[in-house]
Amino acid sequence: PFEAAIFDLDGVIVDTAKFHYQAWKRLAGELGFDFSESTNEQLKGVSRMESLELLLRSGGITDLTAERKEELASRKNEWYKELLDTLTPGDVLPGVSGFLGLLRSRGVRTAIASASKNAPLILEKVNIRPLFDAVADGNTIGRAKPDPEVFLQAGRLLGVAPAACFVFEDAAAGVEGAIRAGMRVVGIGDGALLARAHLTIASFEQLEPVFLLSHIGLNGD
Ligand code: BG6
Ligand code: MG
Repeated sequence: PFEAAIFDLDGVIVDTAKFHYQAWKRLAGELGFDFSESTNEQLKGVSRMESLELLLRSGGITDLTAERKEELASRKNEWYKELLDTLTPGDVLPGVSGFLGLLRSRGVRTAIASASKNAPLILEKVNIRPLFDAVADGNTIGRAKPDPEVFLQAGRLLGVAPAACFVFEDAAAGVEGAIRAGMRVVGIGDGALLARAHLTIASFEQLEPVFLLSHIGLNGD
C-alpha cells in the first residue's frame, strides 16, 4: 500500500527552476556563450558543481582550475539567492498546498527530496516546511540525482519502504533516481521529457479525484 509522498522541490513545489536557469544563463553570458533552455533541461535535478560542468562543456570551456570553478559556482549561487529573495508564500505552485493537505489528512507521510543546498531557505521563504515530515537535501546527501540516495534517505527518514513511496519530479535525472530507488514516480511537466515516469501530469491542478483513487488509493473528496 501507498504510505508516503516524496516531492522534489525546485520546479515541483515552487518555480525556482526558472531562477536556476536565469542565473546559469547570466554566467554563460559572462563567459561569452549562449545557454539555451534545452541544454538547461539536462541541469535540472543535478548538483551545483555537476551543473557547472555541464554548462562549461556546452560552451566548449574545458581548461578551468578547480578553484576557478568554485568561484564561478558561488557567483552563480549569489545571483540565484538574489532571485530567491523575491519568493513569498504566494509562489507555491497551484494545487500543491491543497494536495499536501489532503495527503496528510489521510495519514500519508510527506518529505522533500532535493539536490539543493538552498532547500531549507526556500522552504522557509514560502512557508511550507510545516507540511513536510522530513527533508532530505543537498546538505545531507553525497551523490546527486540520478543517484537514488536522496530518495532513499527521504524514505528512511519517514520510516517507509521504497515500494510504498510515490515520488513527484519535474526532472529526467530525478525520475531516473526515483526509479533506481525502487519507488513509483509521477512526472510533473512535459511528458516527452519525462518518458520514464510511471505517469505524467501537467501540474498539481490536474490531479483529479479519480487519479487519487486509482493510483494512490485515496478518496479525493
Ligand atoms: C536541484 C535543481 O534541485 O538543485 C538544480 O534542480 C540545482 O537545478 C540543484 O543545480 C542544486 O541546487 P543548489 O541550490 O544547491 O545550487
Ligand atoms: Mg526539480
